Amino acid sequence: MLQDIQIQTPSLRGTSSCVLETERLTLRRPTLADVKAITHLANNRRIAENTRRLPHPYLQEHAVEFVRAKATDSSETVFLIEHNYSPIGMVGIDRGEPDAPELGYWLGVDHWGRGFGTEAARAAIDLFFEEFDAEHLVSGARVANPASRNILEKCGFQWCGVELHRFEALGYSTPVDRFRLTRSVWASLKNWGSSTRKER
Ligand SMILES: CC(C)(COP(=O)(O)OP(=O)(O)OC[C@H]1O[C@@H](n2cnc3c(N)ncnc32)[C@H](O)[C@@H]1OP(=O)(O)O)[C@@H](O)C(=O)NCCC(=O)NCCS
Repeated sequence: MLQDIQIQTPSLRGTSSCVLETERLTLRRPTLADVKAITHLANNRRIAENTRRLPHPYLQEHAVEFVRAKATDSSETVFLIEHNYSPIGMVGIDRGEPDAPELGYWLGVDHWGRGFGTEAARAAIDLFFEEFDAEHLVSGARVANPASRNILEKCGFQWCGVELHRFEALGYSTPVDRFRLTRSVWASLKNWGSSTRKER
């Protein structure tokens, strides 16, 4: 799935200034030129209610603050997801807690249901395990979010419990299924070649 990584700086660590190409998507660092598009995509309660940190309503100033913060934040690798040269969402890996690097993502509602979430998550996961030494990656999905749960399971994440997390847009805490993907499971999935069946 991860077809090409164009590295624009000698080291990816702490910069997120690389571009990932998948079959249908381009993942790149968001810039201030993307603020309008990000605001338009993110300003939807269905997205905010399933992501911990997205405020609702999501205003242009939120997008400006987000882009500026991520440009200097070496602990989070964030990508704007583009399809046919148009932004459709965001995926990122937050390494703020070194023992629990965390995958997160959201897509504009018009782009749900076409496998883009899985495709973008896989690209970010590949980059993470290829570029960092960590042994595992974590993620979470509200218990009432089967689409996100499906993405995580398709990427090899295994359920490891339920926690209460506060969601900014909800203003309260709600149960979240927690998932973990180990390097060994990721490597195994990547190496699982196809087999053929012969009738005898
Ligand atoms: C979660 C989200 C990224 C999914 O994106 P997507 O591109 O539609 O996801 P995909 O198409 O790659 O895969 C979703 C899977 O869940 C399934 N699914 C979708 N809605 C579902 C539902 N209500 N019940 C059960 N399964 C569902 C899809 O069929 C698909 O599985 P399949 O490939 O086996 O058919 C998108 O809905 C979103 O941005 N939601 C709001 C933000 C969010 O939840 N972020 C995740 C929190 S970290």
